[in-house]
Formats: sequence, structure tokens, C-alpha cells
Amino acid sequence: MNRWASKVAVVTGASAGIGAAISRALTKESVKVVGLARRGQRLEELTDQLGKDKFFPIVCDLRKEEDIVKAFKWIDEKLDGADILINNAGVADVSKIIDTTADEYHRILDTNIVAPGVCAREAIKLMKKRGIDGHIVNISSIAGHNAEMVSIPVGMYCASKYALTALAIELRHEIELADLKIKVTNISPGPVMTDMLIKGLDLRDLNDARTLRVADVVNAITYALGTSPLAEVYDVIIMPMLGRKMLRAPKLS
Ligand SMILES: NC(=O)c1ccc[n+]([C@@H]2O[C@H](COP(=O)([O-])OP(=O)(O)OC[C@H]3O[C@@H](n4cnc5c(N)ncnc54)[C@H](OP(=O)(O)O)[C@@H]3O)[C@@H](O)[C@H]2O)c1
Repeated sequence: MNRWASKVAVVTGASAGIGAAISRALTKESVKVVGLARRGQRLEELTDQLGKDKFFPIVCDLRKEEDIVKAFKWIDEKLDGADILINNAGVADVSKIIDTTADEYHRILDTNIVAPGVCAREAIKLMKKRGIDGHIVNISSIAGHNAEMVSIPVGMYCASKYALTALAIELRHEIELADLKIKVTNISPGPVMTDMLIKGLDLRDLNDARTLRVADVVNAITYALGTSPLAEVYDVIIMPMLGRKMLRAPKLS
């Protein structure tokens, strides 16, 4: 991780869960973190904890392309570009494709797949401008590899995460065609004990051993970021130990 000291990382969804935890971990490694999310109050609290010279909050609704463009313009002008992008923000709640309107489909798809694409485009623009060997990390999910193990209705969530798998492949193709040296990694965890699981999916009663901790995901991200310039981690799938059973016996209802 030493090579990232004093560099700039953009973390989407920094106001909670995995995004707040990776922001903490990166600032400990002397990386300057720009945290994007809608809840400004939460970002301010994180700024107070991490320090104004280490964490730079930007209130941004990732469903609005203009908000993203404005955030990266600020990063370009004030922090001299970005070296790392962590596409972490995402939404998941109990919802059904057959019972909801296209607006509901868009809420999930715009946040989970369109916004990562727009953020990657803007980050790559800045990396290209300065010839930076950067790294883009997308927080995907086991739901993007094996939707059958998701036993509750989640609407477009699995579709959005499968799309994130394809997004990473397409970005690698385009980065190669543009003759750039930017790594793309997807991190695909099983259930992690965050607000998404507790409030969004109402799975608060999941046995502790059937969920991952935020630290498990943070360790996977820092592992991928810490690899040598020769190695590019494509995808890391992490499951709770009891997840093997979940993979073998999907409960369909
Ligand atoms: N928890 C799990 O079981 C699990 C498992 C596998 C993968 N993941 C993935 O991990 C990532 C992080 O999830 P988490 O568990 O940390 O969830 P979380 O605690 O609910 O946090 C979600 C984050 O996304 C941000 N966000 C959502 N919509 C946004 C928008 N329109 N604009 C800006 N920010 C937005 C939220 O910020 P604001 O509300 O402040 O905007 C929040 O910071 C997601 O991509 C999720 O799919 C989670």
C-alpha cells in the first residue's frame, strides 16, 4: 500500500458501512480520501473523525450525472486528480420486479451500475490527463455471480451486480485500447453486516456466523490495491464460512 501514500482516492457511498470503513482504512495509509454520498451530516461526522486534511466530503447524488461531473471537476482543480476510485455506493432492499414500476428499476440500476460507469469515466479522464497508473475497484456482490443463492426478492439488484461484472471487463478492454495502465478489480462479498442488510433487506436476524464483517471486505480491497504493478486482481469472491451451505441450497420463495 506504500505507493498510494499521499495519493487521492474517491470513495462513493462513504457515509456508511463498507464505504465509511474503507475511507478510514485508506486515510490510515496516508491516502487522501474524497467521500461522496447524499447524507452530508454523516460525511461531516467522518471529516471530524478523520481530519480535514485527510477526508474531503462531497455531497453528491450519484443518480445525477451532473453531481458526479461537478465532484470530479472539484477533485481535478483542488486535489490535482484521482489515483484510486472505489465504486462502492449501492442500494438493495426487498422489492419485486413483477410488482414495481420502471422508476423502481431505475432507482437500483442508476445507482448500482450507471453511476459506477459515470464515475469510472470521470476518474479515467483525470488519470489519463496526468498519466496516472490508477486503480478502479467496484464493490459488487456474490449476487453478481450466483443470483440463485439470494433467497429474498431484491428486484433489479442481482441484475445490477451481474452488469457490474461485465462493466469491469468492458473497462479493461477500453483501458487497453486507450493504452492506459489502470487496474480494474471487482470485490464480490456475500452478506455483510451493514445497514443494507439490517434495514434494506431486513435480515437483522441472520446468525453472526452467516455474515461477513466490514473488515473482511476492507481487507480484500487493500489486498487488491497493494498488489505489484505486474498483478491485476480481477475479482475476489468472499463468503462467510456458513455461506457454503447457502450456495448449495438456495431457498426460493
Ligand atoms: N451489505 C451487504 O450484505 C453487501 C453484500 C455484498 C455487496 N454489498 C455492496 O457493498 C456496497 C456498500 O454497501 P453497504 O453494505 O456498505 O451499504 P450501506 O451501509 O447501506 O451503504 C450504502 C452507501 O451507498 C450510498 N448511496 C446509496 N445511494 C446513493 C446515491 N444515490 N448517491 C450517493 N450515495 C448513495 C449511501 O449514502 P447516502 O445514503 O448517504 O447517499 C451509503 O453510503 C454496495 O454496493 C452493496 O451492494 C453489500
